[in-house]
Amino acid sequence: MASVQPFEYDTAIKVLADSSNLKAVPSKFNFINEPSALSSDSLPIIDFSALIADDPDRRCGAIRDIGKACQEWGFFILVNHGIPEALMNATFTATKEFFKLPENEKKQYEAKSASDPIKCGNFNVTNTSNQTFTLWRDYLKLYAHPEFHCPLKPPVLRITGYKYGQNGLKIFREVLLEYTERTRGLARKLVEAISDNLELEKNYVDEVLKMDSSFQLFATNLYPPCPQPDQAIGIPPHTDPGLFTFLIHNGVAGLQIEHDGHWFNVDSPQNSILVNAADQLEIFTNGRCKSVKHRAVVNKERERISIVVANGPSKEAIVGPAAPLVEKDGRALYSSMKYIEYVEAQLVKSRVNGKQILEQM
Ligand code: SIN
Ligand code: FE2
Repeated sequence: MASVQPFEYDTAIKVLADSSNLKAVPSKFNFINEPSALSSDSLPIIDFSALIADDPDRRCGAIRDIGKACQEWGFFILVNHGIPEALMNATFTATKEFFKLPENEKKQYEAKSASDPIKCGNFNVTNTSNQTFTLWRDYLKLYAHPEFHCPLKPPVLRITGYKYGQNGLKIFREVLLEYTERTRGLARKLVEAISDNLELEKNYVDEVLKMDSSFQLFATNLYPPCPQPDQAIGIPPHTDPGLFTFLIHNGVAGLQIEHDGHWFNVDSPQNSILVNAADQLEIFTNGRCKSVKHRAVVNKERERISIVVANGPSKEAIVGPAAPLVEKDGRALYSSMKYIEYVEAQLVKSRVNGKQILEQM
């Protein structure tokens, strides 16, 4: 519904929210929210340990459940994923330290172009009525794979627990590197599960999507308390471009997803990961898996932080519906293009329109 305009950096939203005892949101944030969410329904829960179990029955059950969740909801909750709680906590500590850096230090990473491998700031979008508004969110985004990009002078963190040395000091980049590596491993297993579920040949996915050089993006969003939550939005409705997106949050609600034509609040138990099927999964499966719209709303009381890892195919992969599925279905529902072209097209103009740029007219 909205297209993204060139980046603009402004005072961090957090600074604005903290400093000015705001009673109302400035007009540049004004966003007409669609009807509010219904109360939450429970998302499917996937036990990752079953997916890698020796017992073939458990494994088959998990593969079937992942396929069903991606077809019916496009979202699920991943439990027993093997990422240590201490690493997840350390990743939150890292991102909080980054947001706490003085504005002039963060400013060197402000986005100059949509494809900068490191960028932070605020974001303006324009809706279909040509109104531009600023999102109620500060963000940091890094390209994490195949090259890992990180601020040059990353904050040093004081973290206790989880192999962080005796004095508890750890460098921001080490934490993010480990978190992104581990989530990339999980994403790869999930893509394999979908491939098994669709009875594709064993190596088909790896060959076509070139998963060894999977393009992975790390993002963190900070949504400060907002004096008028119904007059602003954290992130407007959109779909994600990649295969699987992983999201963890600091226990404050705010993610809503579209399901059966309604908006649902979604929540996830502590230490679980919210996973969603993204555009390339829908495209690759010729429409079987659903890349569903979601949005981040803001609230009056509590700061919300989310950490998002978007796992895609290789930038160089030609992405389109899998040939064996097209043969089965009699036609391709989407056209094909290089993944990097898809990502760039979305970054520059129609990010929040998601997969529509690939749909055939
Ligand atoms: C996103 O969709 O990129 C983030 C949503 C959230 O922060 O909950
Ligand atoms: Fe998203």
